[in-house]
Amino acid sequence: MNKYEQRAIMVAGSLMGVFLFAILYNAFSRKIDVPSCTPFNTKFEKGQVKKVDDNHYEVYVIAHMWSYEPGDISFPAGSTVDIYLTSTDVVHGFEITRKDINLMAVPGGITKKTVVFDQPGKYNIVCNEYCGYNHQNMLGEITVTY
Ligand code: CUA
Repeated sequence: MNKYEQRAIMVAGSLMGVFLFAILYNAFSRKIDVPSCTPFNTKFEKGQVKKVDDNHYEVYVIAHMWSYEPGDISFPAGSTVDIYLTSTDVVHGFEITRKDINLMAVPGGITKKTVVFDQPGKYNIVCNEYCGYNHQNMLGEITVTY
C-alpha cells in the first residue's frame, strides 16, 4: 500500500474516533437527546397550551402556511414544557431562538421535545425550513413570565 493511502486511512480513522467521541460525549455527559417522532393521532386537533401542574405544561403546536397555532405561548419561568409539534400542509421548521431548540414540523407525524425554561423573557419562534412564498413571515413567540 502506498504511504499516502496509509496516511489518508489514518486521518480518516482518527476523524471517525473524534466524531464518535463527540456523539457519545453529548449523548451521555451533556445529556443531549434527539426529539421523538410518533404517528399523528386524532386527539391532536387544535393548537393549545395545557397546564399539567404548576411547573409542567404541554404545548400542542400546529404549523401551517404561514403561522403557528398558537402563535403566542406563555408560561412561568422554571416550567418544564413538553412540546408536541405537527404540520397540516408541508414541512415547517420550529426553531426557538436563544434556546438551542430546532424541531421539524412534519405532516402526519408528531415531534415531541421536552424543554425547561429557566430564564424569563421573550423567545422567538422561527420557521427555518423553506415552506412557500411567505416563509420569511412565519414567526411565533414564547413569553416566559416571572
Ligand atoms: Cu414554514 Cu418556512
